[in-house]
Amino acid sequence: MSQLKWWETAIIYQIYLRSFQDSNADGVGDLQGITSRLEYISNLGVDAIWISPFFKSPQNDFGYDVSDYFDIAPEYGSLDDFKKLLIKAHSLGLKLMVDIVAAHSSSEHPYFQESRQSKENSKSDWYHWVDPMPDGTPPTNWLSFFGGNAWSWEPQRQQYYLHNFLSSQPNFNFSNPHVLDYFEKIAHFWFDFGVDGFRLDAVHTINSDKPPYKDNIPNPNFKTGPLPLDQQPFFRQLHDFAQLNQPGIQEFSARMRRVADSYEDRFLMGEVDGDNEDAMKVSKSFTQEGRLHATYNFDLLEWYGLTVCEMKEIINKAVGTFNNSGKLCFAFSNHDVPRSFSRQLAPLNVKDVDGKSMQLLLLKLESCLIGSACIYQGEELGYEDVRDIPIHQLKDPWGIEFAPIFPGRDTCRTPMVWDADLKNGGFSEANETWLPIGKKHLKKAALQEVKRSDSIYNSFSHFLMWRKKQPAFVEANRMTTLSGNQRQIIFDRISERQTLRCCFDFESLTASFEEI
Ligand code: NOJ
Repeated sequence: MSQLKWWETAIIYQIYLRSFQDSNADGVGDLQGITSRLEYISNLGVDAIWISPFFKSPQNDFGYDVSDYFDIAPEYGSLDDFKKLLIKAHSLGLKLMVDIVAAHSSSEHPYFQESRQSKENSKSDWYHWVDPMPDGTPPTNWLSFFGGNAWSWEPQRQQYYLHNFLSSQPNFNFSNPHVLDYFEKIAHFWFDFGVDGFRLDAVHTINSDKPPYKDNIPNPNFKTGPLPLDQQPFFRQLHDFAQLNQPGIQEFSARMRRVADSYEDRFLMGEVDGDNEDAMKVSKSFTQEGRLHATYNFDLLEWYGLTVCEMKEIINKAVGTFNNSGKLCFAFSNHDVPRSFSRQLAPLNVKDVDGKSMQLLLLKLESCLIGSACIYQGEELGYEDVRDIPIHQLKDPWGIEFAPIFPGRDTCRTPMVWDADLKNGGFSEANETWLPIGKKHLKKAALQEVKRSDSIYNSFSHFLMWRKKQPAFVEANRMTTLSGNQRQIIFDRISERQTLRCCFDFESLTASFEEI
């Protein structure tokens, strides 16, 4: 029987809270909304849910800018609402993961408010502050992911502070032990509350170096192509061991692990990335003994999609590094990249007119790999990317900065449609929703898809029920390297009691399984 922990083989359903279900007619999803839809998720057959950040926040980056880690943003509900959600999730057999943003806070966090005031206050050393160079420029060439410089000027201190994302997301100074203590407290608070795990946001962007900081170096592989994402100057640099992936981050991993280990069966999954080919190396370092349990990998989330051969290369690399372990989590979609349904059609040269078979095939493929997998809300319905949002309705700060050339991430964040006959597709009774409803999604309303026997939701749900009964998937995390022709991915999953040959055919868009 399985000796594996729940998270080693878990299928995790990612909920983008703001767009899941509104319960109080303000146009924004909330915790009570999730609670009312938990049966829909558990009937799909997934093992866990991950909820995007719901802590107090000015929402400049929609929750990834926290101003109070111990409380809930009023627009999402209260701690009591969260308790009810957690109890119900557990009663349905679902584990629950929350999204902890450690690398940076909101600039409205009281500690940053204090820190920015002077060089002498109790929080003066909680963020990264540096003097300007003699010519007034910042001391390194670091750029922000979202455009512009990673250093912003604070007139009160006459110093620059660091932010790898928005200027309203200042980076914590993780070389300060008090910052580590603070995150231990936060971890205890949510584990004491009863949550089963954390998705740790962008941990490779935690900054723990002390000055003098190292410059990034030019990226020799950078090519300005026609694609808007590739043109962003951020990608002209290599960041590892300079701006990002600083070695001291692992002190954070180790501290969090010690906290997690003082509870039963808790899970830490870090979102990590590295320059070019290095993502697996970075993941390996984050998951060494005594650090995080697993990392969330970006490689299958490629913004413009992947060919079958590219997928194979990525999966083979993962097998080479992580075989016999559950230390890796793959995903094809999330709240940061265009939906796989739309971006994969061209590179996979899919002839399936409505894309349904391709979507189901991708869902099955990720569920059959070693480790865990994350399914993003709407994938089980075959949601397209929503590319017709008028510029004046864009909400993602990254998109607002670079539209119309680069639309940002709103295209994959539009609200769920539950019932096509209801106002706003049953997402909200408000007159206006925070992002518009995708018109094409009205034909893929969740509650209607649940009733259709041939829907992606039902086909995937049957598949997940079957998967749970296969020793090769749930009793071991072992697989062979991939084979098959240019349109196939074939591998064996192997456990003591079963060897299962898994074949994913991108010509017929079908998956087949054979016990050998
Ligand atoms: C990664 C999150 O997934 C993304 O949505 C966010 O903007 C950045 N981290 C910054 O926190």
